[in-house]
Amino acid sequence: MRSDTENADGTEGVVAHDDGRTDEVDASAEGRAARRDAAVRAAVEQGLLDAGTPLVALLDVTGIRESAAGLRTAFEAVTAPGTPVLHAFAVKASPLVPVLRLLRAEGIGAEVASPGELALARAAGVEPERTVLDSPAKTPAELREALALGIAVNADNPQELARLDALMAGSGSRSPLGIRVNPQVGGGSIEALSTATATSKFGVALRDEGAREWVVRAYLDRPWLTRLHAHTGSQGIALTMMARGVAETYELAEEINRRAGRHQVDTVDIGGGLPVNFASEASTPTYGRYARLLSETVPGLFDGRYGLVTEFGRSLLAKHGTVVARVEYAKSAGGRPVAVTHAGVQVATRTVYAPASWPLRIAAYDAKGRPKEGPAVVQDVAGPACFAGDLLAQGQSLPLLEQGDYAAALDTGAYYFAHHYAYNSLPRPGIHGFTPDGTGGVTFATVRAPQTVEEIVAEAGAAHTDALLP
Ligand SMILES: Cc1ncc(COP(=O)(O)O)c(C=O)c1O
Repeated sequence: MRSDTENADGTEGVVAHDDGRTDEVDASAEGRAARRDAAVRAAVEQGLLDAGTPLVALLDVTGIRESAAGLRTAFEAVTAPGTPVLHAFAVKASPLVPVLRLLRAEGIGAEVASPGELALARAAGVEPERTVLDSPAKTPAELREALALGIAVNADNPQELARLDALMAGSGSRSPLGIRVNPQVGGGSIEALSTATATSKFGVALRDEGAREWVVRAYLDRPWLTRLHAHTGSQGIALTMMARGVAETYELAEEINRRAGRHQVDTVDIGGGLPVNFASEASTPTYGRYARLLSETVPGLFDGRYGLVTEFGRSLLAKHGTVVARVEYAKSAGGRPVAVTHAGVQVATRTVYAPASWPLRIAAYDAKGRPKEGPAVVQDVAGPACFAGDLLAQGQSLPLLEQGDYAAALDTGAYYFAHHYAYNSLPRPGIHGFTPDGTGGVTFATVRAPQTVEEIVAEAGAAHTDALLP
């Protein structure tokens, strides 16, 4: 569906859709598809993928680097020289230590939302001053640790701020601290990811009676509150709505500073949320487009008076991940061809349970890992789990998948294979990063080893086998 308002950013020749897709030209798309095809072929040739290992996940290292560079460049282009900008990757999108390490090498920090995510960021060597803690249910112990480490914290609500009051007293912490607000600008096409609705659980609901005044007073009473945070939503939010959320947050920062009579809020954390185009190869909307839209909508935020923090997740990784699954059986039911593969709910949980919100593109490869030719046939691509809805794709048109072929679920680098769902005790697949070797081949590096059956048994309480017996 086309949106009438999306093109309000003035970008020439861009057709925008309600779900955030646009028809912007993405120069990197062709290279990305070619690298992926080469990697699937090499994975088969190098034995990462075969009858005994029928499922792998692949990460395009070149593509991740390109996206990180694109993010940095986009904001450099719209910020005043010398503006401090921290791009903190939302670890929830790809909680993998080597990925965080790669992003760190690309100048990207970490936004964490649990003790586990903080531990991953620390294991990857992400510096405390490049780390932001944002979760909605932080315990006193988490807050204490964050303050001791000096990582930034955004308080979600008045009760959390009261905890910070107690912990800050005499602590000498260097943590930059702020409050998360919900600008209540509305939701997008996926309710579960709409964080700025009137009743969202996140942050201080800014338009509620008395809330804005409470936030301003909270700052006036606490000179150590120097940041302001909002994350207006993720996939499914129109760019214009995201920009409105940032504008509201900026206006609040200005009001606080006016009433404080000084530049107390020195940094605005604008969250993440740039949507990903799951419908085609193009990586759109681009960071450049969003950064330009923001700088036009909220010019004061970019004039050098404010430092910036961003928290992008999905848009940095999604396009660079591929799940590749062997077709174990090819059958037909009710006249519909069904390819039964090894990728289903365990690696594509959102797609399986909410297919209308999370459709995936499937690419067909033959048994040697070559892109499959042939007329498009409407077919289902099923997973291995024992329930009827375990489908990667329903009624998708692609060359007919046959036994021994491979089905690849594209754009699954964020919130998919790194978010294993242990239905049927299906194992976590191995994850391999790939890079062209410069001589026409592909080099793989293990990002996460596949889970073994022994590990599944151990994690299922094998050490406590007799625990429930009298
Ligand atoms: C506070 C916060 N920041 C950043 C993100 C990342 O969003 P996205 O992956 O859509 O960029 C999320 C996602 O849930 C979030 O809750």
